[in-house]
Amino acid sequence: MPITHAAHSAYRSLFVGTEIPIPLLNGDLQPYINLDNAASTPALRLVQDTIDAFLPYYSSVHRGTGYKSQISTFAYEHARQSVLNFLGADPAEHTCIFGKNTTEAINKLARRFPFTPGRDVVLTSGMEHHSNDLPWRKITQTVHVGLTPDGRLDEIDFDRKLSQFNGKVALVAITGASNVTGFLNRIHILAEKAHHAGAQILADCAQLAPHRKIDMGSLNDPAHLDYVTVSAHKMYAPFGTGALVGRRDTFEVGDPDMPGGGTVEIVTLQDVVWAEPPDRDEAGSPNTLGAVAFAAAIKQLDAIGMDHIAEHEAQLTAYALRKLAKIPRIRIYGDADPGRANQRLGVIPFEMEGISHFLVAAVLGYEFGIGVRSGCFCAHPYILHLLGLTTQEADNVRNTMLAGDKSHMPGMVRASFGLYNTLEDIDALIDALIRIQRREFTGRYTQEKSTGAFEPEGWVPSFEKSYPLTGTE
Ligand SMILES: Cc1ncc(COP(=O)(O)O)c(C=O)c1O
Repeated sequence: MPITHAAHSAYRSLFVGTEIPIPLLNGDLQPYINLDNAASTPALRLVQDTIDAFLPYYSSVHRGTGYKSQISTFAYEHARQSVLNFLGADPAEHTCIFGKNTTEAINKLARRFPFTPGRDVVLTSGMEHHSNDLPWRKITQTVHVGLTPDGRLDEIDFDRKLSQFNGKVALVAITGASNVTGFLNRIHILAEKAHHAGAQILADCAQLAPHRKIDMGSLNDPAHLDYVTVSAHKMYAPFGTGALVGRRDTFEVGDPDMPGGGTVEIVTLQDVVWAEPPDRDEAGSPNTLGAVAFAAAIKQLDAIGMDHIAEHEAQLTAYALRKLAKIPRIRIYGDADPGRANQRLGVIPFEMEGISHFLVAAVLGYEFGIGVRSGCFCAHPYILHLLGLTTQEADNVRNTMLAGDKSHMPGMVRASFGLYNTLEDIDALIDALIRIQRREFTGRYTQEKSTGAFEPEGWVPSFEKSYPLTGTE
């Protein structure tokens, strides 16, 4: 389907708040241009409408007997089924455990994974978000697969490490897509190799799920995914829910990592019998509204079609890469080729020669109303790799930062696109970057050493105008 401005506008109207004006440094108002979708996304209208419609019926789930409890339980369990279907999981073999987000989901898996003596290595990679690296380091021996110079997973090194730790790798924990470069990993091919080596595989799909169809497959299929983690706030349902979808047999055994209400079948003063999955791993009262919101987002994404979403975002990405290439002294990391935009996500990390990434991000926000992110994106090892810092340089940076000075912290600016972004959003980014490069911005910025962030003189935000709970006391 060819991209058109009209088609993009149609998607835009499916979202809440895209046209809300926000103030700029010069006092003007303009609609916010959110290019920070890899971090979090705005809500779909269907999510808002569903929450509005459900809220009058909201009540306790699972243990209540009244009508509202029954409908709330129905809605919560329906959401669980939606997530399983969306990820192509087989409910006979997989369970969906709701939690806060991907970080919580991966930490849970790290605590619940059935490591055995001698088979306790986790093979992850140098391109992971910290959330798919640190939980493993805390629990067991964690080995990082190397990367190609441009930041792709080095599959030759993957094979090498898998055979080097022959029989010892219990789990391959790899991102489905990078939150820095948007590179996609061939998760089903890696899954086949992992299974062949007797290991299981987790695909961290926090980035992938909003943009691509995911099909976990049956456990009989050698290319199946054993575990997938997702965050609803990156999928246009920012109500505090994420999911760990994984093999039932893993969660049928062992103690829950967090015992408490709802995790048991029966408790005596002497004994506890744990509940079956997923209840065993969902302690306490769940986030029912989060699950309902998540299901609504899934319904909308399914209705649009993940293939259409991928196609539209690829065209946005190609358009942005073509335009960025025309701006001198901008360096794009990862893959800058617009011709391959459909083989990656719309996440573009770049640097502007001679201007701190912190400053570029600040000016974009304060003077152009464009939200991006700058820094290391919770992927420090990956950023150091992409920037090509030597160990000595990385050490120097580390020491300066630990001494409380982040003003020269290495990093990049990241623009990341969502389904509702338009070609006009990208035009606005490009125009703003050209002006920043020409130093055509008006604010006088000072940098806070301890954070690295820049703030313009005279910026007095009046949040009470936008946020209803302030200004009324
Ligand atoms: C690839 C990847 N994994 C994990 C996470 C963590 O997600 P959350 O903050 O929702 O826990 C992120 C967040 O940006 C991510 O991009």
